Amino acid sequence: MDRIRIVGGRPLNGTIPISGAKNATLPLMIAALLTEDTLILDNVPRLADVAQLQRILGNHGVDIMVGGKRSGDSEYHGQTVHISAARIVDTTAPYELVSKMRASFWVIAPLVARMGEARVSMPGGCAIGTRPVDLLIMALERLGVQIEIDAGYVIARATNGLKGGEIVFPKVTVGGTHTALMAAALANGTSVIENAAREPEIVDVADCLNKMGAKITGAGTPRIVVEGVTRLHGARHRVLPDRIETGTYAMAVAMAGGDVLLEGARPELLQAGLDVISRAGAEVAVTNAGVRVARNGAGLAPVEVTTAPFPGFPTDLQAQFMALMTRAGGNSRITETIFENRFMHVQELARLGARIHLDGQVAVVEGVEKLKGAPVMATDLRASVSLVIAALAAEGETMVNRVYHLDRGFERLEDKLGRCGAEIERISG
Ligand code: EPU
Repeated sequence: MDRIRIVGGRPLNGTIPISGAKNATLPLMIAALLTEDTLILDNVPRLADVAQLQRILGNHGVDIMVGGKRSGDSEYHGQTVHISAARIVDTTAPYELVSKMRASFWVIAPLVARMGEARVSMPGGCAIGTRPVDLLIMALERLGVQIEIDAGYVIARATNGLKGGEIVFPKVTVGGTHTALMAAALANGTSVIENAAREPEIVDVADCLNKMGAKITGAGTPRIVVEGVTRLHGARHRVLPDRIETGTYAMAVAMAGGDVLLEGARPELLQAGLDVISRAGAEVAVTNAGVRVARNGAGLAPVEVTTAPFPGFPTDLQAQFMALMTRAGGNSRITETIFENRFMHVQELARLGARIHLDGQVAVVEGVEKLKGAPVMATDLRASVSLVIAALAAEGETMVNRVYHLDRGFERLEDKLGRCGAEIERISG
Protein backbone atom coordinates (compact mmCIF):
# COMPACT_ATOMS: atom_id res chain seq x y z
CA MET A 1 0.00 0.00 0.00
CA ASP A 2 1.38 3.41 -0.95
CA ARG A 3 2.26 5.99 1.68
CA ILE A 4 2.93 9.70 1.47
CA ARG A 5 5.87 11.25 3.29
CA ILE A 6 5.75 14.95 4.09
CA VAL A 7 8.32 17.11 5.81
CA GLY A 8 6.56 20.22 7.09
CA GLY A 9 7.59 23.82 7.28
CA ARG A 10 7.84 24.85 3.63
CA PRO A 11 5.59 27.57 2.19
CA LEU A 12 3.65 26.91 -1.01
CA ASN A 13 4.25 29.16 -4.01
CA GLY A 14 3.14 28.75 -7.62
CA THR A 15 0.12 27.44 -9.49
CA ILE A 16 -2.13 24.47 -8.76
CA PRO A 17 -4.45 23.47 -11.62
CA ILE A 18 -7.91 22.48 -10.36
CA SER A 19 -9.30 19.24 -11.79
CA GLY A 20 -12.85 18.37 -12.80
CA ALA A 21 -15.17 17.68 -9.87
CA LYS A 22 -15.34 14.08 -8.67
CA ASN A 23 -18.86 14.54 -7.35
CA ALA A 24 -20.12 15.79 -10.70
CA THR A 25 -18.18 13.25 -12.78
CA LEU A 26 -19.70 10.25 -10.99
CA PRO A 27 -23.40 11.14 -11.55
CA LEU A 28 -22.61 12.41 -15.08
CA MET A 29 -21.11 9.04 -15.99
CA ILE A 30 -24.15 7.31 -14.47
CA ALA A 31 -26.45 9.56 -16.53
CA ALA A 32 -24.97 7.97 -19.67
CA LEU A 33 -27.12 4.91 -18.84
CA LEU A 34 -30.18 6.99 -19.76
CA THR A 35 -29.43 6.98 -23.50
CA GLU A 36 -28.38 4.53 -26.19
CA ASP A 37 -26.28 7.28 -27.79
CA THR A 38 -22.77 8.28 -26.74
CA LEU A 39 -22.23 10.80 -23.95
CA ILE A 40 -18.89 12.58 -24.19
CA LEU A 41 -17.50 14.08 -20.99
CA ASP A 42 -14.54 16.47 -21.00
CA ASN A 43 -12.37 17.45 -18.03
CA VAL A 44 -12.82 14.09 -16.30
CA PRO A 45 -10.32 13.72 -13.42
CA ARG A 46 -8.00 10.71 -13.12
CA LEU A 47 -9.28 9.26 -9.86
CA ALA A 48 -9.70 5.82 -8.34
CA ASP A 49 -13.44 6.45 -7.91
CA VAL A 50 -13.80 7.21 -11.62
CA ALA A 51 -11.96 3.98 -12.52
CA GLN A 52 -14.18 2.05 -10.10
CA LEU A 53 -17.33 3.47 -11.68
CA GLN A 54 -15.99 2.48 -15.11
CA ARG A 55 -15.86 -1.12 -13.85
CA ILE A 56 -19.41 -0.88 -12.50
CA LEU A 57 -20.79 0.56 -15.73
CA GLY A 58 -18.82 -2.03 -17.70
CA ASN A 59 -20.70 -4.73 -15.81
CA HIS A 60 -23.98 -3.30 -17.19
CA GLY A 61 -22.55 -3.53 -20.72
CA VAL A 62 -21.46 0.08 -21.10
CA ASP A 63 -18.51 0.77 -23.42
CA ILE A 64 -16.12 3.43 -22.20
CA MET A 65 -13.36 4.93 -24.29
CA VAL A 66 -10.86 7.34 -22.80
CA GLY A 67 -9.61 9.76 -25.44
CA GLY A 68 -5.89 9.93 -26.21
CA LYS A 69 -3.67 12.94 -25.65
CA ARG A 70 -4.02 15.93 -27.97
CA SER A 71 -1.08 18.13 -28.91
CA GLY A 72 -0.66 20.84 -26.31
CA ASP A 73 -2.26 18.71 -23.57
CA SER A 74 -0.33 18.47 -20.33
CA GLU A 75 -0.80 15.78 -17.73
CA TYR A 76 -2.95 18.32 -15.91
CA HIS A 77 -5.64 18.46 -18.58
CA GLY A 78 -8.66 16.37 -17.68
CA GLN A 79 -9.51 13.36 -19.78
CA THR A 80 -12.18 13.10 -22.45
CA VAL A 81 -14.33 10.04 -21.91
CA HIS A 82 -16.82 8.60 -24.41
CA ILE A 83 -19.51 6.54 -22.71
CA SER A 84 -21.90 4.41 -24.70
CA ALA A 85 -24.74 2.45 -23.11
CA ALA A 86 -26.16 1.36 -26.50
CA ARG A 87 -27.04 -2.04 -25.06
CA ILE A 88 -27.56 -2.65 -21.38
CA VAL A 89 -26.86 -6.34 -20.86
CA ASP A 90 -27.32 -6.60 -17.10
CA THR A 91 -29.53 -4.56 -14.75
CA THR A 92 -27.92 -5.92 -11.57
CA ALA A 93 -25.29 -3.94 -9.68
CA PRO A 94 -23.69 -6.54 -7.39
CA TYR A 95 -22.58 -6.14 -3.78
CA GLU A 96 -18.88 -6.65 -4.61
CA LEU A 97 -18.96 -3.52 -6.78
CA VAL A 98 -21.49 -1.25 -5.02
CA SER A 99 -19.93 -1.81 -1.59
CA LYS A 100 -16.69 -0.20 -2.82
CA MET A 101 -18.30 3.09 -3.73
CA ARG A 102 -21.55 4.42 -2.39
CA ALA A 103 -22.43 6.66 -5.33
CA SER A 104 -22.68 3.60 -7.57
CA PHE A 105 -26.07 2.91 -5.93
CA TRP A 106 -27.35 5.81 -8.06
CA VAL A 107 -27.35 3.56 -11.18
CA ILE A 108 -30.72 2.36 -9.89
CA ALA A 109 -32.47 5.46 -11.29
CA PRO A 110 -31.37 5.38 -14.96
CA LEU A 111 -31.59 1.57 -15.06
CA VAL A 112 -35.21 1.44 -13.89
CA ALA A 113 -36.15 4.49 -15.97
CA ARG A 114 -34.77 3.05 -19.20
CA MET A 115 -35.08 -0.71 -18.69
CA GLY A 116 -38.09 -0.93 -16.35
CA GLU A 117 -36.08 -2.86 -13.77
CA ALA A 118 -32.95 -2.69 -11.66
CA ARG A 119 -31.43 -4.82 -8.91
CA VAL A 120 -28.87 -2.88 -6.93
CA SER A 121 -27.07 -3.90 -3.76
CA MET A 122 -27.68 -1.73 -0.71
CA PRO A 123 -24.48 0.28 -0.26
CA GLY A 124 -24.15 -0.28 3.51
CA GLY A 125 -22.55 2.04 6.04
CA CYS A 126 -19.23 3.76 5.65
CA ALA A 127 -16.61 5.53 7.66
CA ILE A 128 -18.55 8.79 7.99
CA GLY A 129 -21.94 7.54 9.15
CA THR A 130 -24.78 5.14 8.44
CA ARG A 131 -25.77 6.87 5.16
CA PRO A 132 -29.15 5.25 4.45
CA VAL A 133 -30.89 5.21 1.03
CA ASP A 134 -34.49 5.54 2.27
CA LEU A 135 -34.96 8.94 0.60
CA LEU A 136 -33.64 7.69 -2.74
CA ILE A 137 -36.14 4.83 -2.56
CA MET A 138 -38.94 7.22 -1.57
CA ALA A 139 -38.16 9.39 -4.62
CA LEU A 140 -38.39 6.40 -6.96
CA GLU A 141 -41.66 5.25 -5.35
CA ARG A 142 -43.14 8.71 -5.87
CA LEU A 143 -42.45 8.21 -9.59
CA GLY A 144 -44.36 4.93 -9.67
CA VAL A 145 -41.49 2.48 -9.12
CA GLN A 146 -42.30 -0.66 -7.09
CA ILE A 147 -39.58 -1.42 -4.60
CA GLU A 148 -38.76 -4.69 -2.90
CA ILE A 149 -35.82 -5.40 -0.64
CA ASP A 150 -34.44 -8.91 -0.97
CA ALA A 151 -31.20 -10.42 0.34
CA GLY A 152 -29.50 -7.06 0.66
CA TYR A 153 -30.63 -5.88 -2.77
CA VAL A 154 -33.08 -3.16 -3.71
CA ILE A 155 -35.20 -4.43 -6.56
CA ALA A 156 -36.89 -1.65 -8.52
CA ARG A 157 -39.60 -2.35 -11.10
CA ALA A 158 -41.64 -0.12 -13.37
CA THR A 159 -43.01 -2.42 -16.04
CA ASN A 160 -45.12 0.29 -17.63
CA GLY A 161 -42.56 3.04 -17.28
CA LEU A 162 -42.26 5.81 -14.71
CA LYS A 163 -44.95 8.41 -13.98
CA GLY A 164 -44.30 12.04 -13.12
CA GLY A 165 -44.94 12.83 -9.45
CA GLU A 166 -44.25 15.18 -6.58
CA ILE A 167 -41.19 14.44 -4.45
CA VAL A 168 -40.79 16.35 -1.20
CA PHE A 169 -37.49 15.62 0.51
CA PRO A 170 -37.77 15.95 4.32
CA LYS A 171 -34.02 16.62 4.36
CA VAL A 172 -31.65 17.90 1.70
CA THR A 173 -29.95 15.00 -0.06
CA VAL A 174 -27.52 15.24 -2.96
CA GLY A 175 -27.87 11.58 -3.96
CA GLY A 176 -31.65 11.75 -3.56
CA THR A 177 -31.81 14.75 -5.86
CA HIS A 178 -29.57 13.10 -8.51
CA THR A 179 -31.77 9.99 -8.34
CA ALA A 180 -34.98 11.98 -8.67
CA LEU A 181 -33.63 14.03 -11.60
CA MET A 182 -32.44 11.03 -13.60
CA ALA A 183 -35.62 9.03 -13.03
CA ALA A 184 -37.96 11.97 -13.69
CA ALA A 185 -36.15 12.85 -16.93
CA LEU A 186 -37.63 9.74 -18.60
CA ALA A 187 -40.95 9.63 -16.67
CA ASN A 188 -44.31 10.09 -18.34
CA GLY A 189 -45.51 13.54 -17.24
CA THR A 190 -44.18 16.33 -15.07
CA SER A 191 -42.36 15.88 -11.75
CA VAL A 192 -41.69 18.44 -9.07
CA ILE A 193 -38.80 18.01 -6.62
CA GLU A 194 -39.18 20.08 -3.44
CA ASN A 195 -36.36 20.81 -0.98
CA ALA A 196 -33.94 19.72 -3.68
CA ALA A 197 -30.19 19.89 -3.06
CA ARG A 198 -28.74 23.08 -4.59
CA GLU A 199 -25.13 21.87 -4.89
CA PRO A 200 -23.30 23.02 -8.06
CA GLU A 201 -22.88 19.36 -9.04
CA ILE A 202 -26.69 19.04 -9.24
CA VAL A 203 -26.77 22.02 -11.60
CA ASP A 204 -23.98 20.47 -13.68
CA VAL A 205 -25.87 17.19 -14.02
CA ALA A 206 -29.13 19.00 -14.86
CA ASP A 207 -27.28 21.04 -17.54
CA CYS A 208 -25.90 17.87 -19.08
CA LEU A 209 -29.31 16.13 -18.97
CA ASN A 210 -30.84 19.16 -20.72
CA LYS A 211 -28.16 18.91 -23.44
CA MET A 212 -29.28 15.26 -23.79
CA GLY A 213 -32.84 16.44 -24.42
CA ALA A 214 -34.28 16.51 -20.88
CA LYS A 215 -36.60 19.34 -19.81
CA ILE A 216 -35.40 20.43 -16.39
CA THR A 217 -35.87 23.88 -14.88
CA GLY A 218 -34.98 25.23 -11.45
CA ALA A 219 -31.77 23.26 -10.80
CA GLY A 220 -29.78 25.22 -8.22
CA THR A 221 -32.99 26.24 -6.41
CA PRO A 222 -34.94 24.17 -3.86
CA ARG A 223 -37.72 23.50 -6.42
CA ILE A 224 -36.85 21.61 -9.59
CA VAL A 225 -39.44 20.87 -12.27
CA VAL A 226 -38.84 18.04 -14.72
CA GLU A 227 -41.05 17.53 -17.73
CA GLY A 228 -40.48 13.91 -18.72
CA VAL A 229 -39.47 12.99 -22.29
CA THR A 230 -39.63 9.60 -24.02
CA ARG A 231 -35.96 9.40 -24.95
CA LEU A 232 -32.67 11.17 -24.37
CA HIS A 233 -29.88 11.49 -26.91
CA GLY A 234 -26.11 11.86 -26.86
CA ALA A 235 -24.34 15.08 -25.88
CA ARG A 236 -20.97 16.55 -25.02
CA HIS A 237 -20.40 18.14 -21.61
CA ARG A 238 -17.46 19.60 -19.72
CA VAL A 239 -17.29 18.68 -16.01
CA LEU A 240 -17.20 21.73 -13.74
CA PRO A 241 -14.10 22.40 -11.58
CA ASP A 242 -13.85 20.67 -8.22
CA ARG A 243 -14.87 23.10 -5.47
CA ILE A 244 -13.72 20.74 -2.72
CA GLU A 245 -10.28 20.35 -4.28
CA THR A 246 -10.19 24.15 -4.56
CA GLY A 247 -11.08 24.63 -0.90
CA THR A 248 -8.61 21.94 0.17
CA TYR A 249 -5.64 23.60 -1.55
CA ALA A 250 -6.79 27.02 -0.36
CA MET A 251 -6.60 25.69 3.20
CA ALA A 252 -3.23 24.08 2.49
CA VAL A 253 -1.85 27.50 1.47
CA ALA A 254 -3.48 29.17 4.48
CA MET A 255 -1.80 26.54 6.66
CA ALA A 256 1.68 26.46 5.09
CA GLY A 257 1.87 30.14 4.08
CA GLY A 258 2.91 31.33 0.61
CA ASP A 259 1.05 32.48 -2.47
CA VAL A 260 -0.71 30.13 -4.90
CA LEU A 261 -2.99 30.53 -7.89
CA LEU A 262 -5.71 27.87 -7.94
CA GLU A 263 -6.02 27.78 -11.69
CA GLY A 264 -9.46 27.25 -13.18
CA ALA A 265 -11.20 27.47 -9.77
CA ARG A 266 -14.64 29.13 -9.81
CA PRO A 267 -15.09 31.19 -6.63
CA GLU A 268 -18.90 31.28 -6.87
CA LEU A 269 -18.93 27.53 -6.25
CA LEU A 270 -17.28 27.99 -2.87
CA GLN A 271 -18.21 31.37 -1.44
CA ALA A 272 -18.85 30.11 2.10
CA GLY A 273 -15.53 28.24 2.15
CA LEU A 274 -13.52 31.16 0.78
CA ASP A 275 -15.14 33.58 3.26
CA VAL A 276 -14.08 31.37 6.15
CA ILE A 277 -10.52 31.08 4.81
CA SER A 278 -10.18 34.85 4.55
CA ARG A 279 -11.66 35.32 8.04
CA ALA A 280 -8.97 32.92 9.26
CA GLY A 281 -6.35 35.35 7.94
CA ALA A 282 -5.47 34.33 4.39
CA GLU A 283 -5.81 36.71 1.46
CA VAL A 284 -8.26 35.45 -1.14
CA ALA A 285 -8.39 37.22 -4.50
CA VAL A 286 -10.40 36.36 -7.59
CA THR A 287 -8.46 36.67 -10.85
CA ASN A 288 -9.28 35.90 -14.48
CA ALA A 289 -7.34 32.68 -14.19
CA GLY A 290 -8.94 31.43 -10.96
CA VAL A 291 -8.54 32.15 -7.25
CA ARG A 292 -5.32 33.34 -5.59
CA VAL A 293 -4.72 32.48 -1.96
CA ALA A 294 -1.86 33.93 0.06
CA ARG A 295 -0.73 34.16 3.66
CA ASN A 296 2.51 35.81 4.52
CA GLY A 297 3.58 36.19 8.10
CA ALA A 298 0.22 36.86 9.74
CA GLY A 299 -1.03 34.26 12.22
CA LEU A 300 -4.28 32.34 11.84
CA ALA A 301 -7.43 33.55 13.58
CA PRO A 302 -9.95 31.11 15.07
CA VAL A 303 -13.25 30.96 13.16
CA GLU A 304 -16.52 29.26 14.07
CA VAL A 305 -17.97 27.03 11.36
CA THR A 306 -21.12 24.92 10.96
CA THR A 307 -21.46 22.60 7.98
CA ALA A 308 -24.64 22.91 5.92
CA PRO A 309 -25.98 21.99 2.48
CA PHE A 310 -24.95 24.36 -0.35
CA PRO A 311 -24.59 27.36 -0.26
CA GLY A 312 -23.43 26.71 3.33
CA PHE A 313 -19.99 25.54 4.41
CA PRO A 314 -19.49 22.05 2.89
CA THR A 315 -19.11 18.98 5.09
CA ASP A 316 -16.49 17.82 2.56
CA LEU A 317 -14.20 20.64 3.81
CA GLN A 318 -14.84 20.18 7.52
CA ALA A 319 -11.82 17.95 8.20
CA GLN A 320 -9.47 20.20 6.22
CA PHE A 321 -10.71 23.27 8.08
CA MET A 322 -10.22 21.53 11.40
CA ALA A 323 -6.59 20.84 10.42
CA LEU A 324 -6.16 24.55 9.69
CA MET A 325 -7.67 25.58 13.01
CA THR A 326 -5.21 23.41 14.97
CA ARG A 327 -2.69 26.26 14.46
CA ALA A 328 -5.09 29.18 15.10
CA GLY A 329 -4.40 31.68 17.86
CA GLY A 330 -7.32 30.64 20.09
CA ASN A 331 -10.29 28.27 20.24
CA SER A 332 -12.56 27.55 17.29
CA ARG A 333 -15.82 25.59 17.24
CA ILE A 334 -16.69 23.31 14.34
CA THR A 335 -20.19 21.83 14.17
CA GLU A 336 -20.94 18.95 11.77
CA THR A 337 -24.63 18.80 10.83
CA ILE A 338 -24.63 16.54 7.74
CA PHE A 339 -23.01 13.27 8.86
CA GLU A 340 -23.17 11.86 12.39
CA ASN A 341 -19.73 10.31 12.43
CA ARG A 342 -17.46 12.55 10.45
CA PHE A 343 -14.83 13.26 13.11
CA MET A 344 -12.56 10.26 12.47
CA HIS A 345 -9.67 12.64 11.73
CA VAL A 346 -9.72 14.06 15.28
CA GLN A 347 -7.68 11.24 16.80
CA GLU A 348 -5.13 11.29 14.01
CA LEU A 349 -4.73 15.09 14.18
CA ALA A 350 -4.12 14.59 17.90
CA ARG A 351 -1.17 12.33 17.00
CA LEU A 352 0.39 15.40 15.38
CA GLY A 353 -0.11 17.40 18.58
CA ALA A 354 -3.52 18.99 17.90
CA ARG A 355 -5.82 19.67 20.86
CA ILE A 356 -9.42 18.93 19.94
CA HIS A 357 -12.33 18.25 22.30
CA LEU A 358 -15.36 16.46 20.94
CA ASP A 359 -18.84 16.89 22.30
CA GLY A 360 -21.40 15.17 20.10
CA GLN A 361 -21.53 17.00 16.78
CA VAL A 362 -19.29 19.84 18.00
CA ALA A 363 -15.49 19.91 17.99
CA VAL A 364 -13.67 22.61 19.90
CA VAL A 365 -10.19 23.10 18.52
CA GLU A 366 -7.67 24.71 20.82
CA GLY A 367 -4.98 26.24 18.62
CA VAL A 368 -1.41 25.16 19.43
CA GLU A 369 1.97 26.79 18.78
CA LYS A 370 3.30 23.88 16.80
CA LEU A 371 2.45 20.46 15.42
CA LYS A 372 4.97 17.63 15.24
CA GLY A 373 5.19 15.02 12.47
CA ALA A 374 4.12 11.43 13.17
CA PRO A 375 2.84 8.37 11.33
CA VAL A 376 -0.91 8.76 10.73
CA MET A 377 -3.68 7.18 8.72
CA ALA A 378 -7.26 7.95 7.96
CA THR A 379 -10.44 6.15 7.17
CA ASP A 380 -11.89 8.37 4.46
CA LEU A 381 -10.91 10.68 1.69
CA ARG A 382 -11.43 14.10 3.28
CA ALA A 383 -9.98 12.96 6.62
CA SER A 384 -6.83 11.77 4.82
CA VAL A 385 -6.27 15.09 3.13
CA SER A 386 -6.77 16.94 6.41
CA LEU A 387 -3.72 15.03 7.69
CA VAL A 388 -1.73 16.19 4.66
CA ILE A 389 -2.68 19.80 5.45
CA ALA A 390 -1.63 19.44 9.08
CA ALA A 391 1.61 17.75 8.00
CA LEU A 392 2.54 20.72 5.79
CA ALA A 393 2.83 22.85 8.93
CA ALA A 394 4.17 20.17 11.29
CA GLU A 395 7.78 20.05 12.40
CA GLY A 396 9.62 17.07 10.94
CA GLU A 397 8.29 14.07 9.06
CA THR A 398 4.72 12.82 8.77
CA MET A 399 3.95 9.53 7.06
CA VAL A 400 0.37 9.33 5.81
CA ASN A 401 -0.63 5.70 5.43
CA ARG A 402 -3.51 4.22 3.41
CA VAL A 403 -3.04 6.64 0.55
CA TYR A 404 -5.68 4.84 -1.51
CA HIS A 405 -8.25 7.02 0.24
CA LEU A 406 -6.54 10.13 -1.18
CA ASP A 407 -6.36 8.62 -4.65
CA ARG A 408 -10.15 8.22 -4.65
CA GLY A 409 -10.65 11.97 -4.83
CA PHE A 410 -7.42 13.93 -5.37
CA GLU A 411 -5.63 13.80 -8.70
CA ARG A 412 -1.81 13.90 -8.44
CA LEU A 413 -1.91 15.46 -4.98
CA GLU A 414 1.77 14.98 -4.18
CA ASP A 415 2.72 16.35 -7.59
CA LYS A 416 0.49 19.43 -7.30
CA LEU A 417 1.81 20.29 -3.83
CA GLY A 418 5.41 19.30 -4.67
CA ARG A 419 5.53 21.70 -7.63
CA CYS A 420 4.62 24.52 -5.24
CA GLY A 421 7.54 23.75 -2.95
CA ALA A 422 6.14 21.22 -0.46
CA GLU A 423 8.53 18.46 0.57
CA ILE A 424 6.26 15.56 -0.27
CA GLU A 425 6.80 12.18 -1.90
CA ARG A 426 4.87 8.99 -2.55
CA ILE A 427 6.47 5.82 -1.32
CA SER A 428 5.15 2.87 -3.31
CA GLY A 429 4.44 -0.58 -1.97
N1 EPU B 1 -29.67 10.71 3.95
C1 EPU B 1 -30.70 9.99 4.47
N2 EPU B 1 -31.40 9.16 3.63
C2 EPU B 1 -31.08 9.03 2.32
C3 EPU B 1 -30.03 9.79 1.78
C4 EPU B 1 -29.33 10.64 2.63
O1 EPU B 1 -31.01 10.07 5.65
O2 EPU B 1 -31.75 8.25 1.63
C5 EPU B 1 -28.90 11.60 4.84
C6 EPU B 1 -27.44 11.21 4.95
O3 EPU B 1 -27.24 10.17 5.89
C7 EPU B 1 -26.81 12.51 5.37
C8 EPU B 1 -27.64 13.55 4.62
O4 EPU B 1 -28.87 12.90 4.27
O5 EPU B 1 -26.98 12.70 6.73
C9 EPU B 1 -27.03 14.10 3.35
O6 EPU B 1 -26.57 13.05 2.53
P1 EPU B 1 -26.53 13.17 0.95
O7 EPU B 1 -27.52 12.23 0.36
O8 EPU B 1 -26.62 14.60 0.57
O9 EPU B 1 -25.06 12.63 0.62
P2 EPU B 1 -24.59 11.75 -0.61
O10 EPU B 1 -25.37 12.08 -1.81
O11 EPU B 1 -24.50 10.33 -0.19
C10 EPU B 1 -22.84 13.46 -1.51
C11 EPU B 1 -21.36 13.48 -1.77
C12 EPU B 1 -20.61 13.45 -0.46
C13 EPU B 1 -21.02 14.68 0.35
C14 EPU B 1 -22.54 14.71 0.53
C15 EPU B 1 -23.03 15.97 1.24
C16 EPU B 1 -21.07 12.41 -3.92
C17 EPU B 1 -20.58 11.24 -4.71
N3 EPU B 1 -20.99 12.33 -2.60
O12 EPU B 1 -23.09 12.26 -0.79
O13 EPU B 1 -19.23 13.52 -0.77
O14 EPU B 1 -20.38 14.67 1.60
O15 EPU B 1 -23.18 14.62 -0.75
O16 EPU B 1 -22.67 17.09 0.54
O17 EPU B 1 -21.55 13.39 -4.50
C18 EPU B 1 -16.93 13.08 -0.53
O18 EPU B 1 -16.78 13.50 -1.69
O19 EPU B 1 -15.95 12.86 0.25
C19 EPU B 1 -18.29 12.83 -0.04
C20 EPU B 1 -18.53 12.07 1.02
